[in-house]
Amino acid sequence: MNKKDYNKLFVPTYKRDGAPLTEGKDVYLYDADGNKYLDFGTGIAVNALGHAHPALVKTIREQGKMLLHSSNLYFSQTQIALAKQLLKKSFGDRVFFCNSGTEANEAAIKFSRKWAKKISPDKYHVLSFTDGFHGRTYGALSATAQEKFHAGFEPILEGFHYATFNDIENTKKLLDQYSFAAVIVEPIQGEGGVIPATKEFLQFLREYTQQNSIALIFDEIQCGMGRTGTLWAYEQYKVIPDMMTLAKPVGGGIPLGVVICKEDIALALSPGDHGTTFGGNPVACALGSTVLEIISQKPFLKEVKLKGEYLKKKLNALKEKFDIIQEIRGSGLIIGIQLSEDPLPFINKCKQKGLLVVKAGHNTIRMLPPLIVKTKEIDKAVSILENVLASGA
Ligand SMILES: Cc1ncc(COP(=O)(O)O)c(C=O)c1O
Repeated sequence: MNKKDYNKLFVPTYKRDGAPLTEGKDVYLYDADGNKYLDFGTGIAVNALGHAHPALVKTIREQGKMLLHSSNLYFSQTQIALAKQLLKKSFGDRVFFCNSGTEANEAAIKFSRKWAKKISPDKYHVLSFTDGFHGRTYGALSATAQEKFHAGFEPILEGFHYATFNDIENTKKLLDQYSFAAVIVEPIQGEGGVIPATKEFLQFLREYTQQNSIALIFDEIQCGMGRTGTLWAYEQYKVIPDMMTLAKPVGGGIPLGVVICKEDIALALSPGDHGTTFGGNPVACALGSTVLEIISQKPFLKEVKLKGEYLKKKLNALKEKFDIIQEIRGSGLIIGIQLSEDPLPFINKCKQKGLLVVKAGHNTIRMLPPLIVKTKEIDKAVSILENVLASGA
């Protein structure tokens, strides 16, 4: 089969070309044609420890020999260990394990409704924000306030409302209109263009939701787990949510989603209210423990912060050189480079030159390098981007 015909095998939900990727080591990926790529996309914020990290390989080997699957009908040692670690290192009282980001948000939305309906039967509305992204299943999609993701799939679910991100006045007006169960927000919007929430905005959300018995959900699926230089992005805002959703890097490359929540919300649920066959899989949870153990070390997080500052400084120097760069945004190692043109031709050229980066929003190049990246690899990535910008789209 010709490479061009690979697309004919799949439902065309992705636009892709080139040789299949076959192998990864550290910060590099390799394809079937022998090309080597510096991976500054990490499978969209998944491979936080790079590829084939020895600790993850060891964990898979050991857990593979022990148990690949049991069932949520029984306790699991790996789930217990990871739950204890996550709760010790966060604000939470209880966890729910699932398989992906969209499933984590789906669960968090359901939990908030179950909890809020005990307060009042019409307390089921959910507020989210423009340019946010929460996933593709109907609950998570309905919370994703971007028309392009809804197009063709309407009607979206009843009771979902959208306010303008970072706009306190607009948000308050909407909050005053309905009886809300939950507010869901990304502390740093990833897909939307690497747009950080302001401190005042999250602090306002916290105050309002606390005063009105509304569950505040932070979606840290992309920005959590060390990506911003603190273990959780909310630490930098000094705002504690009622629920936090995680996925992407948590399972070290194996699907794993998590909802961390406070006791009163958790206790609104009873056996049979929600469930999953694979959620909290033993291999995924064993990997989760290894990932969390490594990333949550203070010196590791400090390095992420320093490397993020280094990358940002180098990109700001490029901004001085190229008018096409409008703004450099982000925190730690989630960085957005906003251009005045469509970034896609530049992203494709970066790939041709051996650098993988990802588009965000309409006009932003997103860099999500592995958290173990070294400064010499940052230098290399910035130099490839500089070449590409110099040669034009
Ligand atoms: C902030 C955020 N929430 C939710 C999701 C959905 O996660 P998944 O693709 O694992 O379903 C994503 C994925 O990009 C995301 O970035």
